[in-house]
Amino acid sequence: MRPSEQRWRIVVIDDSPDDRAEIRRLLLRGSARQYDLVEASTGAAGIRAIREAAGGPPDCVILDYHLPDADAPEVLAELAGPDGNGVCPVVVATGSNGEATGRAVLSAGAQDFIGKSWMTAESLTRAVENAVTRWAMVQALRAGDARLRAALDTAQQAVRSRDELVSLVSHDLRNPLNALVAGISLLEDEALGDEGRGVLRRMARQAQRMDEMIHELVDVAQLRAGVPLALTLADTDLVQLTRALIEEHQDGAPAHRIEVRTAPLSLVGSWDGRRLHRVVNNLLSNAIKYSPGGGRVQIELEDATEGATTWALLRITDEGMGISTDDQARVFQWFSRGVNARRTTIQGTGIGLAGVRDIVEQHGGSVSVHSEEGKGSTFTVRLPTRPPPPSAPHRAG
Ligand SMILES: Nc1ncnc2c1ncn2[C@@H]1O[C@H](COP(=O)(O)OP(=O)(O)OP(=O)(O)O)[C@@H](O)[C@H]1O
Ligand SMILES: [Mg+2]
Repeated sequence: MRPSEQRWRIVVIDDSPDDRAEIRRLLLRGSARQYDLVEASTGAAGIRAIREAAGGPPDCVILDYHLPDADAPEVLAELAGPDGNGVCPVVVATGSNGEATGRAVLSAGAQDFIGKSWMTAESLTRAVENAVTRWAMVQALRAGDARLRAALDTAQQAVRSRDELVSLVSHDLRNPLNALVAGISLLEDEALGDEGRGVLRRMARQAQRMDEMIHELVDVAQLRAGVPLALTLADTDLVQLTRALIEEHQDGAPAHRIEVRTAPLSLVGSWDGRRLHRVVNNLLSNAIKYSPGGGRVQIELEDATEGATTWALLRITDEGMGISTDDQARVFQWFSRGVNARRTTIQGTGIGLAGVRDIVEQHGGSVSVHSEEGKGSTFTVRLPTRPPPPSAPHRAG
C-alpha cells in the first residue's frame, strides 16, 4: 500500500467548533489520503481520546494552542509522560504567527506548528505529513539508542564479571595454593625415602605451574583491559631459562627431540624473568602441541649488536602441522585459534601467543612467525637486552 493510501487516525483538539470544522475541511481537501478524525474540545478530553483510542495512539494530533483548561505546552507535557518521549506526533495550531510560540511548543515536544491565520489545505497537510515522518525517524533513533545502551550494559556487565573473576582467581585460588606449597616444603624436611621425595617434587612442580597459570590469568585480564604490565626487570639469563624449560618439557614429550643450539653460553638481559619464562614456555609448548606426530623441536639462541643495542634472538622451530598464510596474521590476536588447531582435538584457548606478543613488545622487542602448512613453523623473538623506558614504548610490527 502506498503511503498516501494508508488511512490515518487524527485527533483534533480545539475548543472552537468552527476551527475544528475548518481543519477537517482543509485536511480532506489537502491530500488523497483518507482520515479517521476524532475531535475533542478540551485538553483533558483530547488526552483521553489519545490514550483510549482503539488501536493505540493516533497517527497524529492537531492541537490548538489555547484551550479552556490548558495551553498546548501543558497538554504536551502531560502527553510526554515521565520518560519525556510522548506517544504520537503533535502539530500545534497557533493563533498567532509568533516564532517564539512555535519554538516553545517544539521544545515542549511538538513535531511542528502552524499558524491558524496562514493555514491552507496544502500547508496543514504538509505539516501533518512532516510530523509523522519526523516522529517515525525519532522512534527509529530511539530504538537504535536503546539497543546501543543495552549492548553497552551487557559489555559493562561482562567487564564487571571479568574483574570479579580475576579477583576471585588471584586471591581465592592463591590461598589454598600457598597452603599446599607450605605443606610440601614442610614434608620435604621429613625422612620420606626416595619415592616419597619424588612424589613431593612432582607435587611442588604442579603447584608451581598452577601459580604461574594464576599469574598469567591476571596478566591476561590486565592486558585485555589495555593496561600495560608493570615489568619487574632484573638480570635474567635466557640460555639458562630456556634450558630449564626444555628439561621440564622433554619428560612429557618422549616423541619429540628438543634440541638447543646456542652461540653464547649465557645471554643476560634486563628482563622480567617470570614473564620471559612464560614467553618461552608458550612457544615451546605450542611447538610440541602442534606437532602431535613428534619430531624435532629446535631452539636457537643468538645475540647480535646493532649500534648501541644488543639483541637477543630466540628461534623455535618445529616440524608440525604449520599455520596457513591467512591464519599467520591472526594467531597473535586474543582468543584466536588457527584452522589447523580447530580441526583437531588439540586443546587450547588462544591466549598464549597474544600474551607472548604483548610481553615481548613491552620489553621493546618483536615476535614473528614463518610457517608452511604440513611442514612446520618457526617463531622468532627479538629482544633488546635493555628494554627502553616504559614512557617510550617501542611497538614492534
Ligand atoms: N607451533 C605451532 N604450529 C602450528 N600452529 C600453531 C603453533 N603455535 C600456535 N599455533 C596456532 O596459533 C593458535 C594460537 O596459539 P596460542 O598459543 O595463542 O593458543 P592455543 O595454543 O590455541 O591455546 P593456549 O591459550 O592454551 O595457548 C593456535 O590455536 C594454533 O592454531
Ligand atoms: Mg598455545
